[in-house]
Amino acid sequence: KYVIQNLEIVPENEATIQPNDRSYHFGDGVYEVVRVYHSKPFQLDAHWKRLMESAKKLDMNFSVSTDELTKLTAELIEKNQLEDGTVYIQVSRGATERNHLYTRDEKVVLTGFTMAAPARMQTKGIHAWVTDDLRWLRCDIKTVNLLGNIMAKREAADADCQEAIMHRDGTVTEGSSSNLFLVNDGILYTHPATNLILNGITRQVVIQLAHEAGIKVVEEAFPKEVLIHTEEAFITSTTSEITPIIEFKGQINAQMPIGPVTKKLQERFAKLI
Ligand code: PDD
Repeated sequence: KYVIQNLEIVPENEATIQPNDRSYHFGDGVYEVVRVYHSKPFQLDAHWKRLMESAKKLDMNFSVSTDELTKLTAELIEKNQLEDGTVYIQVSRGATERNHLYTRDEKVVLTGFTMAAPARMQTKGIHAWVTDDLRWLRCDIKTVNLLGNIMAKREAADADCQEAIMHRDGTVTEGSSSNLFLVNDGILYTHPATNLILNGITRQVVIQLAHEAGIKVVEEAFPKEVLIHTEEAFITSTTSEITPIIEFKGQINAQMPIGPVTKKLQERFAKLI
């Protein structure tokens, strides 16, 4: 297996990471997870755009061009003979003696690897655990600092749920590693792309598909009580695509079928692959 280390592809066992890398000290890094179908990266330009934006929002000196990233990604997919799976790319502010204060001359560290495709839950649906959103106020930045996310995911798994749906003071935000959509009276509802959620690439694709299908989309925050009577619910992400929710558990208890709007969007999504 091969990995990306800075601008090179090296065998995994030859890769070296410095113990004083700022992503270890402070979670001071940004990342992207890109889906690969038939050995081709999906929505790559959108992922690079968000990676650049995340780096910029954190004042990171990231000057690798998107062309270079695209070339490296293609080479990694080829070397690892990946047909269906994901590519993970991380940018750390680099290795320096531990100091909270970053300077602007650090040399960023680029790393990357491939992963196999996750188990499919798209036809079966999942159980979702409703819990508090404990994260910071810049969830729009895709940083490797994911403590609130992993705590919620563990809580969900301990309750036999595959995803945690989080709310901040009663207002539903998103999943621990996905965005949430509801369907009511044929209208699609999701949290607006503010600082309180990550604006998912899959989320943006689904909104576009809904527009094309003549489905009205409302990007508005809603209270967690709305989950009790929702007709349909699904999560979206690079790895889970469009995955229906069939039950909410925890702070909310409700069950719902996999509905026609979810299925229609799944069919349209499948055509893009
Ligand atoms: N997570 N919200 C959060 C908090 C996420 O971590 C993710 C993705 C999404 C969906 O974004 P996208 O559609 O661009 O994948 C929303 C990735 C897959 C991960 O960390 O593994």
